[in-house]
Amino acid sequence: MTDRYAVFGHPIAHSKSPLIHAAFARQTAQDMTYEAILAPLDGFAASVAAFVAAGGRGANVTVPFKEEAYRLASRLTPRAEHAGAVNTLVFGSDGILGDNTDGAGLVADLTRNLQRTLNGRRILLLGAGGAARGVIEPLLDQQPAALVIANRTVSRAQELAEQFGRGVRASGFEALDGAFDLVINATAASLAGELPPLSPRIFTADTLAYDMMYGRDTPFLAFARAQGAATADGLGMLVEQAAEAFHLWRGVRPDTAPVIASLRA
Ligand code: ATR
Repeated sequence: MTDRYAVFGHPIAHSKSPLIHAAFARQTAQDMTYEAILAPLDGFAASVAAFVAAGGRGANVTVPFKEEAYRLASRLTPRAEHAGAVNTLVFGSDGILGDNTDGAGLVADLTRNLQRTLNGRRILLLGAGGAARGVIEPLLDQQPAALVIANRTVSRAQELAEQFGRGVRASGFEALDGAFDLVINATAASLAGELPPLSPRIFTADTLAYDMMYGRDTPFLAFARAQGAATADGLGMLVEQAAEAFHLWRGVRPDTAPVIASLRA
C-alpha cells in the first residue's frame, strides 16, 4: 500500500510542500503520496487523528498549528523541545513523535547552499516569535562569536535570551549599531510589507541578509542590498526543512539543489 503523508495548515492552498515532497519521492523512488490538508482553526487534533486513522504515516505542520502539534506529540526530539514548536510528525504504533526541522533547514541552506560559515561569526536574529525561537538552538550549535536577538517588543527578546543562555543577547531595533556577518529576518514584518527600523550600519559588503519569507523581494532585503549586503530569501530553507522531514520519514536524503532550482524557475 502507498504510504500517505500530508501538510496541515490554515490557510494551506498555496503551500509548496506537496510539490517539494512529490519531487523528492520521484527522485528517490519512494512509493508515497503527500497532500495538503486544511484543518479547521479549532480542529487540528481531530484532523490529524482522522488522517492517522486513514493510514497516514507522517505529516508536516505549518502556521498556525506548530505549537499545538508540540502539545499533541507523545514524544519530542531535543530540537523540537528547545523550539517549543513542531513542524514534523511521525505516526507510529507507539504514538506520535514530534520533531522540528526548521532550524536544521536554515543552517543547511546557509552553510551548504549559500556557502556561509557561521562558526565565529556575528549573527543578528530579528524577531522573537515562533519562527525565531525555532532556529536559535541550531544556530548556537554552529558556535557563532555572537548571537543577538532583536525584537520590536524587547521583553520578548529578553525572555528568549534568558531561556537559551549560552551568551545570547537581547536588544531593541534602535539600539543596534555594530556590523553583523549574518542578519536573519524572522519577524512577520515582511508579510505586511514593512521594514523593522534598522540602522544601515548593521550591514556591510560582507553581510548576508536572509529573509525567512520567500516568493517576493521584501523591504528588508531591498534595504540590505542598498547597503551593499548580499541577500537570500527563505526558499532554500523551505526545501531543506522538507528534506530533513523526508529523511526522518523515509531514511533517504533527497538532493535539494534541483528542487530549489525548479521552484525558482
Ligand atoms: P511567528 O510564528 O511567525 O514568529 P509570532 O509569534 O506572531 O509569529 O511573531 C511575530 C514576530 O514578528 C514578532 O517578533 C513580532 O514582534 P513583536 O514581538 O514585537 O510583536 C514581529 N513583528 C510582526 N510585525 C512586525 C513589524 N511590522 N515590524 C517589526 N516586527 C514585527
